[in-house]
Amino acid sequence: MPTANFTDIVLSRMGADIDPRLREVMTSIISHVHAIVREVEPTQEEWFQAIMFLTRTGQLSDDVRQEFILLSDTMGVSMLVDAINNRKGQGGTESTVLGPFYAAGSPELPLGANIAREPGGQPCFLSGHVRAPDGSPIAGARLDVWHSNSHGFYNVQQLDTQPSGNLRGVFHTDADGRWWFRSIMPSSYPVPEDGTVGNLLRAMGRHAWRPAHVHFIISAPGFQSLTTHLFVNGDTYLDSDAVFGVKDSLIVDFVRHMDAREIAERGLSEPFYTAEYEFVLEPATVAASREAVAV
Ligand SMILES: [Fe+2]
Repeated sequence: MPTANFTDIVLSRMGADIDPRLREVMTSIISHVHAIVREVEPTQEEWFQAIMFLTRTGQLSDDVRQEFILLSDTMGVSMLVDAINNRKGQGGTESTVLGPFYAAGSPELPLGANIAREPGGQPCFLSGHVRAPDGSPIAGARLDVWHSNSHGFYNVQQLDTQPSGNLRGVFHTDADGRWWFRSIMPSSYPVPEDGTVGNLLRAMGRHAWRPAHVHFIISAPGFQSLTTHLFVNGDTYLDSDAVFGVKDSLIVDFVRHMDAREIAERGLSEPFYTAEYEFVLEPATVAASREAVAV
C-alpha cells in the first residue's frame, strides 16, 4: 500500500505554470479516484474490468452513437451538471439533458411543417410561444426539435430504415413569438441496452426506460440557450426516468381529439393530439451575474 501521502506525491508532479482550472480539476479527479480505490480496494481483475468497461464504452461511440453521454446520463451526472449550470433566477423554462441522440444539421422548415417523414404514428400538433421573462414575445427564436418514432427509435439509430431527417426540424418563431409544427406522438423508449451502459443497468437491477418526450434546443440573440424536453403527461416512466431528466414544469398534457368535425378540419381521418407550451428564455446577462448556490 502506498504511503498515506502518496496522493500528494502524485499531485505534486503537476507543473508550476499549468492552467489553474486544469490544476483544480485534475487535483479533484486524482484525489477522488484515489479515495475510491482506497475505499473499494479493487482486485487487479476488478480494476482491469473497469478499464475494459471504459475501453468498450469508447469503442461503441462514434458519430451517431454516444455511449459516454449515455453513461453520464444514466449515472445522473448529466443532470447534476445541468443543475449547476442552469440555475433559473428569473422564471426561465427549466432545462434538462441533451441526451445521446442530438444531431446537428436538422432541416430548416417553415412553421407548421410536418417533421414526420414516414407513415405510422398518431398525428400530433405542437405549438406555443417563446417569450422573455417579462412576457414579451421573442421573434425569430430558433427551435431545434427532435424525438423518437412510434417504436421508440430516433432516426440516427435506424439510418437504414428511417428517412433522412425524420422527426427532426429547425423552426423560427414568427413576429409574435409563436411556433407550431406537426409531428406524431413520441413514445417512451429504453435507452440502448446492447452496450456497456445496458450491461451496467442490468447489473444494478435498473430498467432502461425513458418517458415519452420531445427534445428542444431554443436560442435567440441576447438570451441564454435552452436545452430541454416536453414530457407527455401520464407516461408510465415519469417517476423513474433512466436518466433522471424529468422536471414537473416540463410535463405537458397531450390532448386527444376525437371529434369528427375537428378531425376533418385538420384534414385527417383519425384522432389527433395537441400540446402547447410557453417557453421562457432568460437574458444572456443573468448567468454571469448569478451567485452560486448549492445543488
Ligand atoms: Fe430522447
